[in-house]
Amino acid sequence: MGRIVILKNFRIVDENVNMLGSVVAEDGIIREVFPGTAEVSGSGLSNKELEDFFESARCIIDGGEGSDRWGLTLFPALTDMHAHFREPGFPEKENLESASLAAAAGGYGTVVCMANTNPVIDTPEAAAALKLRSDALGLIDLYPAMSLTKGMAGRELSLLSELIPGDSGQWAPGRLPRRPPLILSEDGKEVASDSLLLAAFTEAKRLGLPVSCHCAPEDEGRSAARVIEMGKKTGCHVHIAHVSAKKTVGLIRAAKAAAGNAGTGFALTCEATPHHLLLNRETAVMMGAETWGRVNPPLRTEEDCRALMAGLLDGTIDAIATDHAPHSGDDKKLGAPGFSGLETAFSACLTGLVHEGGLSLSRLLSLMAAAPARLLGLGDRGRIAPGYRADFFIADTDARWKVDPARSKSKGKNSPFNGKELRGRITTTIHQGRVVCDAVRTAR
Ligand code: DOR
Repeated sequence: MGRIVILKNFRIVDENVNMLGSVVAEDGIIREVFPGTAEVSGSGLSNKELEDFFESARCIIDGGEGSDRWGLTLFPALTDMHAHFREPGFPEKENLESASLAAAAGGYGTVVCMANTNPVIDTPEAAAALKLRSDALGLIDLYPAMSLTKGMAGRELSLLSELIPGDSGQWAPGRLPRRPPLILSEDGKEVASDSLLLAAFTEAKRLGLPVSCHCAPEDEGRSAARVIEMGKKTGCHVHIAHVSAKKTVGLIRAAKAAAGNAGTGFALTCEATPHHLLLNRETAVMMGAETWGRVNPPLRTEEDCRALMAGLLDGTIDAIATDHAPHSGDDKKLGAPGFSGLETAFSACLTGLVHEGGLSLSRLLSLMAAAPARLLGLGDRGRIAPGYRADFFIADTDARWKVDPARSKSKGKNSPFNGKELRGRITTTIHQGRVVCDAVRTAR
C-alpha cells in the first residue's frame, strides 16, 4: 500500500460535484471519492479492510471535526495561467520561494509564470531551470512561459524551431529540455511586426501550444482583433490575457461563435482577473491612479465590470487568472503597474462573484481550477475525482477575514484589496498529497 491520505467529512466542491463526502488519495493521486463519511462509504471494502486502511493512513484531515455542521469545504487546488514571479532578476519585488508560498496560501497548486524577467525566459533551458528549482521547493507545480522573441525585443524569434512537439521527455538536470513549455507569451508586449507574429504563431501551431496574448491597454479591442485574425490564418490557439473592456468581450464572443466553422484548428480562449471583474476606475483613483492603483490594463468602468461578469456567465471568458504582479512600495510610488493577487484571488471572487454576484460555486471552481488546467493541457488536475492529482485546498467559505499586507507571504504588498473584508478563509493547501500550507486539524 502506498502513502495514504484521507480527507473526511468535507463538503466537496469542484466543477461537477457539490456534495458531502470524503476522499482517499494514494501516492499523490485521488483513489476514491465517497459520499458521506469514509467510515460508512459504499467503497466495497470490508470493515476490516477499512480499518487497516485508516490504520495505514499517513495523514487524516477531518473537515467536520469538533463541529456540529459540515464546516469546511474541500476544493481542487487552483491553476493560475498568469503570474509574475520576478525570477530571475527582481528579488526585491518577489522570489521563487515567496511567490510559491503566496500561491500555496491562496489555494493554488499550479502556476504559469511569465517571461518578463531579467534575463527574459526565452529558451527552453531557462524555463526548465526555473521549473527544476521550483520542483525542489515542492510547494506548487510551476510552468514558466517562454517568450515569443529573443529578449522580448521583438526582433527575432526565440528558439521555438528547436522544440519538438509532444516530446514527453522529463525536465531533468543535465538533459537538454526538449520538452516545450506549456504556453508561449510575449507578456506585456505586443509583437509589432506582422511577419514576426505570423512566424511565432506558425511555430506555436506546430508545437500545439497556446499563445497568451497581452493586448495594448489603450486599445484592447484593436489588439485582440489583430491576434484573432492571425490565429485564424495560422490555426493556432490564441489565448487573450486579462480581458478588461466590454468591447473586447463582445469581440471574443462573436469570434468564438464564428470559429466553429473555421476548420483550421484555430482556438480562441481568454481570461479575466479578479481585479478587472470586481474593481472599477473609482477604486484606482482612490488608491492613486498613477501609483498604487495603476495596473495594465487599467481598471475600467462599472459597465466594463458588468460585461466581464456576463462573459463569465455565458462562457465567453474561459478562466480567471491573477496577473499577480508584485512590486516594491518604492516601485509602486514611481508608477510600476500591477497588483499582488495570488493570496486574495479566491476569496475576492468568492465574495464578489459568488456571495454577491450570483455565480455558482462550481462555476467558480471551473474558472479557477479545471478550465485553466485543461487549457494548458494539464488534464490530470482541477477536479476531485478518482485518477486526478491529490492537489487540494480547504476553506471555510463563510469565514470573514481582513486583508492585511503585513501578513502576506508575497513580498508584493500591493493588493487592491488591502484593508477589505473578504469571505472564504483558506486553512490548508495540499500538494500531491502533502500539506504545504497551514496544517490544521491534522490528526496524525
Ligand atoms: O500591471 C501589469 N503588471 N500588467 C502586466 O501585464 C504586467 C505586470 C508586471 O509585470 O508588472
